[in-house]
Amino acid sequence: MDGNGRWAADRHLPRVEGHRAGIESVRDSVELSARLGIEVLTLYAFSVENWKRPPAEVAVLMGLLKRYLKLELATLLANNVRFRVIGSQAELAPDVRAELDVAQDKTAANTGMLFNIALNYSGRAEIVAAARRALRAGVAPDELDEARFAGLLYTAGQPDPDLLIRTSGEMRVSNFLLWQIAYAEIWVTETYWPDFRARHLLEAVLAYQKRDRRYGGIKEPAVVGR
Ligand code: FPP
Repeated sequence: MDGNGRWAADRHLPRVEGHRAGIESVRDSVELSARLGIEVLTLYAFSVENWKRPPAEVAVLMGLLKRYLKLELATLLANNVRFRVIGSQAELAPDVRAELDVAQDKTAANTGMLFNIALNYSGRAEIVAAARRALRAGVAPDELDEARFAGLLYTAGQPDPDLLIRTSGEMRVSNFLLWQIAYAEIWVTETYWPDFRARHLLEAVLAYQKRDRRYGGIKEPAVVGR
């Protein structure tokens, strides 16, 4: 969800106002994704690297997250959305963890869209943690294949993303779902996150539908008449 700081700077506002405005984009994206029947939506809210930001900005981000969960839980429940956190929750403040636990517990039995929030998340750290888990479980080298490894990630049991959307024109993956995006189609939009609304998401989905996915293979030749 990139471009919040630049959105605020364009308006001569403090950076945190960009984060605040970005909450409306979160609401829009969750609602439209659920309505479109998207199976899983993952929003990258806070990376492990984001702790390097000023403490006041981190505090605002955590506060926004807590408020969002409090205000939106009823809507998530009404829309049969299951909420999950991916990332290391141990480093989060107890009040934030408590709010996340409530949202995860209350939506756990929902059967509609899975809404992941990546929080204190790092793709590399996730892969290292999965490798450690495999070692601790005593998995023999010959038994460890891609499917088994994927089952040790935060996203165990979830399908790989089909589409990766990057806002604000950045051409980077930024440590996001490194294992899972192996074959994801990438859509980069210049739109800053606080301006990213349902129509931008639709535009990305429509562009995705026109992509020709080959997964490293070749396109089947057209059948010609005999
Ligand atoms: C990146 O923009 C954005 C973030 C680090 C935070 C995104 C978080 C939210 C929108 C709120 C989280 C809450 C919920 C409910 C998911 P940036 O600050 O790096 O922008 P810039 O690149 O323009 O400086």
